Amino acid sequence: MSRKHPGRFHIFIPGPTNIPERILNAMHISSEDQRNPEIPDLTIPLYKDVKKVFKSEKGTVFLFPGSGTGAWESAIINTMSPNEKVLIYRFGQFSHLWADMFQRLGLDVQIEDRDWGTGTPPEEVEKTLKADTNHEIKVVCVTQNETATGVTSHVEDVRKVMDACNHPALLFVDGVSSIASIDFRMDEWGVDCAISGSQKGFMLPSGMAIMCVSEKALEAHKNAQLKRCYYSWEDQIATNKDGYFPYTPQIPMLRALQESCNIIFDEGLENVFKRHHRIAEGVRKAVLEGWNLKLCAQDPYWYSDTVTAIVVPEDKDAKEVISTAFNKYHLSLGAGLTKVAGKVFRIGHLGDLNELQAAAAIQGAEMAMIDSGISVKPGSGVAAASEYWRKSI
Ligand SMILES: Cc1ncc(COP(=O)(O)O)c(C=O)c1O
Repeated sequence: MSRKHPGRFHIFIPGPTNIPERILNAMHISSEDQRNPEIPDLTIPLYKDVKKVFKSEKGTVFLFPGSGTGAWESAIINTMSPNEKVLIYRFGQFSHLWADMFQRLGLDVQIEDRDWGTGTPPEEVEKTLKADTNHEIKVVCVTQNETATGVTSHVEDVRKVMDACNHPALLFVDGVSSIASIDFRMDEWGVDCAISGSQKGFMLPSGMAIMCVSEKALEAHKNAQLKRCYYSWEDQIATNKDGYFPYTPQIPMLRALQESCNIIFDEGLENVFKRHHRIAEGVRKAVLEGWNLKLCAQDPYWYSDTVTAIVVPEDKDAKEVISTAFNKYHLSLGAGLTKVAGKVFRIGHLGDLNELQAAAAIQGAEMAMIDSGISVKPGSGVAAASEYWRKSI
């Protein structure tokens, strides 16, 4: 940050997240010839490692320049034909944008609106799929982590009901703010397209669409009629098998992604999930027990371990909290988006962070709330979180 803000700037939006120095160092390299014979030494092991993060042996990984939005598009245009039917539950800005993209690409989208603060309801999915006796629904979408509201949906529960109905639809999962931070099991949960981006759990700068697709998705791809070019899978498959790309790849990002996988495996994937849960629990204690405020997530079933959306009292403005936090305390908090603008602010707690970093975010948010006229007891947030962190393992 500039000299206006000496010391570390605290970034607590739910992505981009902190970039570890090991990753910054890995990216800091001179240009490399993208066709040099040593490139496959980087890329072939990298595809394998990324697959491990998705918990997949059978899947195929694609790495595109882009972002999570590009991965959405790639999944759709590579597996679907015009006017095919999609089932999606909408309960936040990102599930909304995903539904909107399906519509703009010419699909027949069954949008089921749910309260913001809830997620994809497995029992409703079951009813809808049971009624779909002609199997018109080709894709079921689950936003594993709705970043706008801090809500995690349970992919495994949706898979169970799809199996119970014997429904052949593909299962798409938006894991942009969950993969590499919240447990995700591509093969075990029978996910067909899992979508992520570089700037969240992978701890990289934004700029890469990271996705894993199943054998079933590759089968669907053979007959998919939507037009595609840059984001097509066939060009990737033809070149990736030898470790190359159909265009000039972002080699520093690929090296950074390899370092990201190394960091994740050094800690252990399961430990990464546990750490995220522990930090998230501390943040929730601060909100619920310290500040006596409400979460946007309506029930513990929906609590997210990567982002917490905090509802401010009705007569207060969350935008003021966010601008005070930024200008006075050098802390970036996530804004409330569209429907919840001004009503919530968000603390992103994913990627490279620990309890004391999260404590700084809690303390900064608390000071900004008090400055904005919100009545919370000074020190109560950190007190509640730290009690939890001290006593839990
Ligand atoms: C759940 C979710 N899906 C999709 C996106 C879009 O990803 P990107 O901004 O990387 O294109 C985001 C971005 O924050 C997200 O949180």
